[in-house]
Amino acid sequence: MRTYLNDGWQFFENWSDDIFGGDVGQNVRIPHANVTTPFNNFDESVYQFVSGYKRVLHLDDVDGRTFLLTFDGVAHYAEVYVNGKCVATHASGYTAFTVDVTDAVRQGDNQIVVKVDSRETLNQPPFGYVIDYLTYGGIYRDVYLDERKGVYVKDVFVKSVPDSPVIADVILADFCGECQLLAKISDAAGETVFSCCYTANTDKLTLSLPCNLKTWDITDPNLYTLTITAGNEEYAVTFGARKAEFTKDGFYLNGKKIKIVGLNRHQSYPYVGYAMPESMQRLDAQILKNKLGVNAVRTSHYPQSQYFIDECDRLGLLVFTEIPGWQHIGDDDWQKQAVQNVDEMVRQYRNHPSIVLWGVRINESQDNDALYAETNRVARELDGTRQTGGVRYIRNSHLLEDVYTYNDFNRDGASDRRDICGKNAPYLVTEYNGHMYPTKAFDDAPHRLQHVLRYANMLDGVFAAENTSGCFGWCMFDYNTHKDFGSGDRICYHGVLDMFRNPKWAAGVFSSMSDGEPYLEVCFSADIGDYPEGVVGDRYILTNADEVKVYRGGQFVKTYTHADSPYKNMPNPPILIDDLIGDRLITEEGFSRKNSDKAKCCFAAVRKYGLNFLPLKYKLAIAQVMASEKLSMDRVIELYGKYDGNWGGKANDLTVEAYKNGKPIASKTVGSFYRYSLDVTPSHTRLHENTSYDVAAVSIIARDQNGSVCPYINKAVTFRTEGVIELVGDNVVALQGGMFGTYVKTTGRTGKGTLYVDDVKVEFEVV
Ligand code: GAL
Repeated sequence: MRTYLNDGWQFFENWSDDIFGGDVGQNVRIPHANVTTPFNNFDESVYQFVSGYKRVLHLDDVDGRTFLLTFDGVAHYAEVYVNGKCVATHASGYTAFTVDVTDAVRQGDNQIVVKVDSRETLNQPPFGYVIDYLTYGGIYRDVYLDERKGVYVKDVFVKSVPDSPVIADVILADFCGECQLLAKISDAAGETVFSCCYTANTDKLTLSLPCNLKTWDITDPNLYTLTITAGNEEYAVTFGARKAEFTKDGFYLNGKKIKIVGLNRHQSYPYVGYAMPESMQRLDAQILKNKLGVNAVRTSHYPQSQYFIDECDRLGLLVFTEIPGWQHIGDDDWQKQAVQNVDEMVRQYRNHPSIVLWGVRINESQDNDALYAETNRVARELDGTRQTGGVRYIRNSHLLEDVYTYNDFNRDGASDRRDICGKNAPYLVTEYNGHMYPTKAFDDAPHRLQHVLRYANMLDGVFAAENTSGCFGWCMFDYNTHKDFGSGDRICYHGVLDMFRNPKWAAGVFSSMSDGEPYLEVCFSADIGDYPEGVVGDRYILTNADEVKVYRGGQFVKTYTHADSPYKNMPNPPILIDDLIGDRLITEEGFSRKNSDKAKCCFAAVRKYGLNFLPLKYKLAIAQVMASEKLSMDRVIELYGKYDGNWGGKANDLTVEAYKNGKPIASKTVGSFYRYSLDVTPSHTRLHENTSYDVAAVSIIARDQNGSVCPYINKAVTFRTEGVIELVGDNVVALQGGMFGTYVKTTGRTGKGTLYVDDVKVEFEVV
């Protein structure tokens, strides 16, 4: 029987031995952040302290029972006390630990106290040098108690590949000589697809379960549950049948070659650091799969919430997970802990079909053969079914792993970069972009477009490089960081989403590659004042449609497809809109076709180079058109303004209609701003008080009369809640890039709750 112990804790900001006495702390619920942070402009000093948590654990009956107390995540060093006695310590903020408290508990009330050290001076990964992310503090993942009576299953490792019996390595506890086991496999609908009885004569055994399962893959992620009953106790584990393999010529899933297209994810959120409950963890996986359409995620730079990985299993999202660390390798004790982290990571996550690779090096560290021989050995011993990788930024570094996983920040084009590793090994790009081009949602249009093109450039190159397994962009969303990084306000604006998971234009490079929801984004501004010197440059459309019809000022201009892209290898590349005039110079101005083509070419050059830097050949071409069509220079400038440039003139709206299989799937108009309204979108409105509180994310986007984001609206927005929910974070904020967000959480009560975003009302129901 499992009981969640997320409620009823008292929190003490300053640790003292008085906590064991009658001292009363602040009532808190887990997941808990040891401090609520501002949105930005704060540093690590705010969460670096030693705090205490205290709770009463009431047990009706302890006779003949085993009690296992699990902490899924305590950042970063924990001492656990039961009835005043220290029963365990744990030195990693990113893996779970289980304490057998059977001998320490008694019938009736027991006191559980946890001393939590959240200082970055700890001698354990990832600490000891600079780190480009904040490490936060607190008991930030679930706490639960498993109660067992008699023999029980302690651990099961399920190994399952298509068309073979399922193999289950089972470890029993409180085993007395012999016992009967019932193994049952059920599918996602709960139907039993296999069941069989076994006699266990030992506490460690391997079961072979012959059954025919549907495979798990990224489009059809079939999951099964293996339930093993020993004595009166059941143990259930979810798994999938799949074969994942990195080879010298790319990545194969169930024998089919797949290009990995992924993003790196940190586990942080505004205000609460790491402390977010189940629904928010799952939401990030849903955003990756359904909104961004990627097929993979790297949990940089540490193992992340089981809920997040469960959702990756459920949705069919491949995962590369890795041990905690950032560039630095510490002394012997520190390294021992790194090896221990491999052990904990592999044991705790190895049943997830979504995980296809273990990262067993400290991210971007130097070669250290002794350490990495050991981390590889441990990973391989505990899991012979998966390959190892280890993220490096060094060319030709020692390869003790199976896959050369490399952060490629300097790629320029479509070459196969496997030479980087200097070996004929499987090759995977684990980061690109990031600090090479930080981009804020409120940067100007040329900057945001450049962000888009850098993603396209890399992805196109990786698709061209047949043998490269794929690539993970840096990164999914912006994050708070240390002073050594970031843009001065302690934020790394490296995300394709902002901190609230609102999309920047670059997110559309991924969304447009996917077959999912219809996607259309027009990457330019109708206001040429947003472009230095009024030089608009290239205009791009991102879409997963087959073709787009472009209209200017209501007049049809041209139909474009993905063939109209400079990128030739990636699916659905950004479409270059090089002509916004079409035949209008002919039909409306009476130009000959030849002069129309010439003029359009010159106008495009003006857009690209600006008038002052226009190459001579275009100046000459303009002169020819002027002579042939009998135009004055003033008239040419007027025509440029009317049909293309538009400096100071009445803006012409641009409308794009997107079609798939001949059917319209989306349309978008980009024009000058007239009015806006707030688009307030909650992640979900039915919240659950279950094993803990629930949180809903609320996205707030200022959209103009056409539904386009208004990147320069930075108005203040006020939040107010009523009923059974409360606000997380600030109650007055300013939009950034026309976007922001907030969170509401449940308060232990069920019923109705309302959030007011200025005068926009969002109703929630808590059940
Ligand atoms: C990498 C590092 C990441 C992040 C990124 C920024 O070197 O692994 O954690 O800092 O740079 O581009």
